[in-house]
Parts: sequence; structure tokens; C-alpha cells
Amino acid sequence: MTVASHLPGAEATDKPVEARLLAEFQQAYPSAGPTPSGEVSFELRAAPSEVPQFDGRPFSVWAYNEQVPGPVLRVRLGESVRVVLHNELPQPTTIHWHGVRVPNAMDGVPGVTQPPVPPGGSFTYQFTPKDAGTFWFHPHVRTSEQVERGLYGVLIVDDADPLPWTRDELWVLDDWLLVAGPELYPEFNTRRDLAHDGRWGNLTTVNGSHREELVVRPGERIRLRLANTANGRVFAPDFSGLDAQVIAVDGMYTARPLPAEGLVLAPGNRLDLDLKIAPELAGRTIEIIDRFTRRPFTIARIRVAGEAVPQPQFTPPSNPRIPRWEDIEAVKPRADYVLDARTGGEYGIEWTINGRVWEEALIEEEFSRLEPGRFHRLTFTNASFRLHPMHLHGQFFKVLSRNGQPVDEPFFRDTVLLRRKETVDIGLVPLDWGRWVLHCHILEHAAAGMMTAVDVPEASDRR
Ligand code: C2O
Ligand code: CU
Repeated sequence: MTVASHLPGAEATDKPVEARLLAEFQQAYPSAGPTPSGEVSFELRAAPSEVPQFDGRPFSVWAYNEQVPGPVLRVRLGESVRVVLHNELPQPTTIHWHGVRVPNAMDGVPGVTQPPVPPGGSFTYQFTPKDAGTFWFHPHVRTSEQVERGLYGVLIVDDADPLPWTRDELWVLDDWLLVAGPELYPEFNTRRDLAHDGRWGNLTTVNGSHREELVVRPGERIRLRLANTANGRVFAPDFSGLDAQVIAVDGMYTARPLPAEGLVLAPGNRLDLDLKIAPELAGRTIEIIDRFTRRPFTIARIRVAGEAVPQPQFTPPSNPRIPRWEDIEAVKPRADYVLDARTGGEYGIEWTINGRVWEEALIEEEFSRLEPGRFHRLTFTNASFRLHPMHLHGQFFKVLSRNGQPVDEPFFRDTVLLRRKETVDIGLVPLDWGRWVLHCHILEHAAAGMMTAVDVPEASDRR
């Protein structure tokens, strides 16, 4: 198979168009973060634990600070984050800060940005988030096993001046593959998981509970943050019957509030909603139904009870400068990533990018080189019949087209779902230098090879 990670002529592009695309980008995407003002420290102890899960029954997991989901780390934009990780697991581990634009050395990828933290070891992560929003963190070593066992948590970066929502709620969506006990199904990366869309559980949870009910008062206005931390499951929560609008995707504000119809959260994705509880809903319970598969089920409930409160009036945050990037044809594609499977390897099936699994790609080290501060177009071609939510570390991108048809998503993303046989073009301007991995966020697919990287060299004019 031919591998075209460096397409000839990638430099020959339409300069004026590229300059304009770039100028639009600079308006919309802060290159440097805020000046750090203060530091917030956290300690995370990763260890086997017994936690009350699934409505209170004790359950054996691996957890951060004996909680699943892990503790919510919350800082304000401008504050630096310092996290000391203590590894008390029987395996090496790391922490990756999904969606956070961190310095490369803080990215948590073993063998790429840091050595794995051995059992008994510790590591200090330190960075200043550049964006306010909903992010999450998880190990990047044996990720399919460690995340499934319960190692994940959410990092919330509050705006410098948060708006007066009556409450700020978080729903961490996950699923679990359980056997009697209940106990976690003890085998990971099974042939079945690999041949399908990863490990899909038989019990879904919101914040660790499978009967999550949010009780709100009529008139409330809620910022509801959703994060999909499942290994493989895609959630499609249906908020119809409620006044809900999407205000952020993957942590970043959208150009304008968007209708919350047809919402899809692939593994890794986050969505922030502006949810207004109409006074007429008093006394009602609204079921939030998942519609991704042919078997709809209730994800959680919102019960409207108690005395009405006056609804706060304000315009939710947005990023109206997000560019449309319609003239992308003028920019030659930089790299084409063909996603496919083959037989072989440790698990019987391997998932490849341009015919290579991660271990092979690491040996060859022929990663796409993306010039810092320049516009790039990358193409993903899903040659398979399975789902692949592709996640790029360290940068946000915009989806430019699907199957050759231009699309206008008025937001940036860090993870995009490719459905069977689909082709997706993305555009991005890398700003942070280093080697950043690019992988499928179906963790079993990544474990079976579906990972590569891009190299962003240090800008030559960097002081
Ligand atoms: Cu959440 Cu490398 O991923
Ligand atoms: Cu995949």
C-alpha cells in the first residue's frame, strides 16, 4: 500500500488565500494564553479502590483519589495548574490533559513526551490553560484498560468572569461492561472489541450512577457540561422538550448558540449546554434519551420541582470570529490518513493508519511535519466499516468537509467522529511545537495500533 504522509507539492499553495485563512484564524484563536496569575495545586493518587458505584454498591475500580469519576479539578482562566500524580497502581501510568493546550512535555504520552510513571513513582504536571472550558484527563498507558477501570476526571477552566447561571452542572457519561458480582468483565482488548467499535458496556452511568436525576427549580438557567469518557460508546442525548442550546464543543465556545438537536458525543467529546428551565415545566420529569443506537435508553432525568426562580437574562459566551474557511481547495492537502484494519498482532486484529500500527510508525518516525503558524489541511479516509473518533493532541481543528461536501461547523474541535467509509477534511494552524499524537479515541482501536503523530517544529523566529 502506498503511504502518502508527505504529499508532493504540499508547499505549493495559494499564498494570498492562505494568508487570509491565517488572518481569520488569528482573530478567533488565542495563540498565547493569559498571563499566569496564581497557581492551584492538586494531588491525584491513582490506586485500586473500592468505591460505591451503580447506586451505592461497593465496586472494585482503579481510581483517582478513590472517586469515579475522579475529582473535578477546577481553576479559573489565568491560573496555573499543578498536579502531582502518585502512581499506586500495579502498572505504569501517565495523565493526558485531553483538549488542553499544554506544553508538549506535559502531554502525558509515554515514549513521546515523557517516560511512563512506574508503580510507586510520581510526576508533576504543570501548565496554564489557554482556554476556558470543559476538559478532561485520563491515563495514556494501557488506556483501554486504565480508563475502563475508572481512571478519568474532568478539568473545568472557568472564565475570568463567569456568567450568572443558577448552576453549573457536569454529566460525565460512561459505560461499563459488567459481569455478575457486579464486576468488570476482566478481559481487555478482546477480539470482539477490536472487530467492532471497541468495548461497549451493558450499563451506562452519569457521574457514576445509572439513575442520575438532576433536580432543578422552574426558571433555572443551567450550564450543563457533558463529557463522554466511555472507551467506545457514542452517546446521542436527546434534549427535546427542553430549551437547550450548545454553547461549547470540546471545551471551546461556538460562534453562536446552536440548536441542541442531533447531538452526538463520540468518546473524548465534550458539549456545554445553556439549559433554560421553563416555568411551565414545574412538576415534570424530563427523560434524556440516548438515540445513537437502534435501542433508545434513558441516560438521565431532569426533575423540575420546588418554587420557581427568576430566570437570569444574559447572552451566553460565544466566539463570533470563528472562520468559515470556505476557500480550502486553494490549500493543498498536507496529509492523508487512511484508517483501516488488518489481521495479526497481539490481539488478532490491528487497526492501522496508512498501513501502519503505532509501533511501526514510531520506528520509522516519518510523521507529518506541520509548520507552526501555517494553515494545514488534513484528510482522514475511513476505509473500514467501523467508527473512528479521531483525536489530535495539542491543537484544535475545524471540520472543512465530509465526503467532499463542504460543511460549516461554527466551532473548533479536538475529536471528530468518522463513520463507516467516510472521508473528513480538517483544517488547522498548529501553534504549539512538539510531537503530538493523533489517534482513534475508541481506546481498543488505539491499543491495537490506531495512532500516529504530527511533528510541529519550533518556529525559527521563536525567541
Ligand atoms: Cu483523550 Cu490521546 O486522548
Ligand atoms: Cu477507531
